[in-house]
Amino acid sequence: MKYESPRGTRDILPSDIRKWQFIEGTARSVFESCNYAEIRTPVFEQTELFTRSIGEDTDIVGKEMYTFLDKGDRSITLRPEETAPVVRACIENNLLGQNEFIKLYYIGPMFRYERPQAGRSRQFHQAGVEVFGSSDALIDVEVIELGVRYFTGIGIKDLEVDINSVGCSICRPVFKEKLKKYFEGKLDGLCENCKNRFKTNPLRILDCKEPGCQKIIEGTPATTDHICGDCRDHFDRVIGYLKQFGIAYKLNKRLVRGLDYYTKTTFEIVSRRLGAQNAVCGGGRYDDLVEELGGRSTPAVGFAIGLDRLLLVLEEQKIRVPEDQRLKVYIATLGEQSKQKGFEVLQNLRNMGIKSDMDYQGRSLNSQLKTADKLKAQFTIIIGEDEIQNGLAVIRSMDHKTQEKVRFEEVLGKFK
Ligand code: HAM
Repeated sequence: MKYESPRGTRDILPSDIRKWQFIEGTARSVFESCNYAEIRTPVFEQTELFTRSIGEDTDIVGKEMYTFLDKGDRSITLRPEETAPVVRACIENNLLGQNEFIKLYYIGPMFRYERPQAGRSRQFHQAGVEVFGSSDALIDVEVIELGVRYFTGIGIKDLEVDINSVGCSICRPVFKEKLKKYFEGKLDGLCENCKNRFKTNPLRILDCKEPGCQKIIEGTPATTDHICGDCRDHFDRVIGYLKQFGIAYKLNKRLVRGLDYYTKTTFEIVSRRLGAQNAVCGGGRYDDLVEELGGRSTPAVGFAIGLDRLLLVLEEQKIRVPEDQRLKVYIATLGEQSKQKGFEVLQNLRNMGIKSDMDYQGRSLNSQLKTADKLKAQFTIIIGEDEIQNGLAVIRSMDHKTQEKVRFEEVLGKFK
């Protein structure tokens, strides 16, 4: 039997791990420098948390969740996203008191049963932020700017911020009716999914990527032409700030996002160089979600970056990631006594914070030197039988191909 990782998942091997450490490490440092604190939640939750928040009619809830009964007959779902779990955690742990303002971030795996393709997998990784407690348009802009700041920190160019407003619980129903009227005479041209969406939630049609539907969608009224005064005012402020602070954006009247909890601002950061799956970051405001999930009414805004997709951009733009710290010392030994001496030296080098290693396979001196070369060690310390007898070690510079004999007591001093 040959085991393989499940379809839509993959191993991240040591040869690729630097890239991951780089994009995750940059997320951590950029978010923390803007005063966001990390939160970690379980990778699975009660199913209802997601059906209630993301919405029954969305693709995520309808088709893509990893849902199962646990041994106690509870319906459990592997998290397809992290906004709902963060809201749940904030409510459960009383992080959202009156007038509380908190800024959180997370990094971790998410799970969606999607058709795998470039930039789309079943286990993927997000880095995201969620801010609770402000309805000020300026915090929408901080969040958008934070996304841009992160990508700039990574060194990525040619990204674009698409922005829209989907209105609120007051104006959205009116807009949905307008959309219904628009699509009514055009149902024959829509795909089967969209015919269903027409009945359940016509807004979802705007998210459809089918070419036939796309043509019809082009003529739809813009959400922003039909939002209420309050939403209009908020949107104008967001746009005003984006202009004022020099953050390039593009209005996208069809940007409704694939999750139902959004109110007012929605945005995506897209790479025009990626194919169909071109959004590397998506987010927006969700002022009703905390209350819907049982908390006190709290305005909120956030985003999530798709790290797997970001890596594709990184590779496409040939962005160099910081290299491995080089191995400073490799210790080659011969025989039991010299091995023990070698391990003692190794411990001391490590206590000094020096990246070092030694042979544990009892191989010939020649093989050990080859390993030192392969590991690109800067120095090899050779402790052979002769050396043990004379209390000497050989320090060999692998770069300069020179070596010197040094008394054991003086070895560490050479590396200070
Ligand atoms: P989302 O748009 O569903 O939003 O996902 C955010 C990002 O995750 C996408 O732009 C994409 O880069 C990445 N992503 C999503 N699905 C996959 C997949 N199957 N494979 C690879 N990458 C994927 C959310 O998840 C919201 N929770 C974002 C948010 C936070 N809104 C407010 N706060």
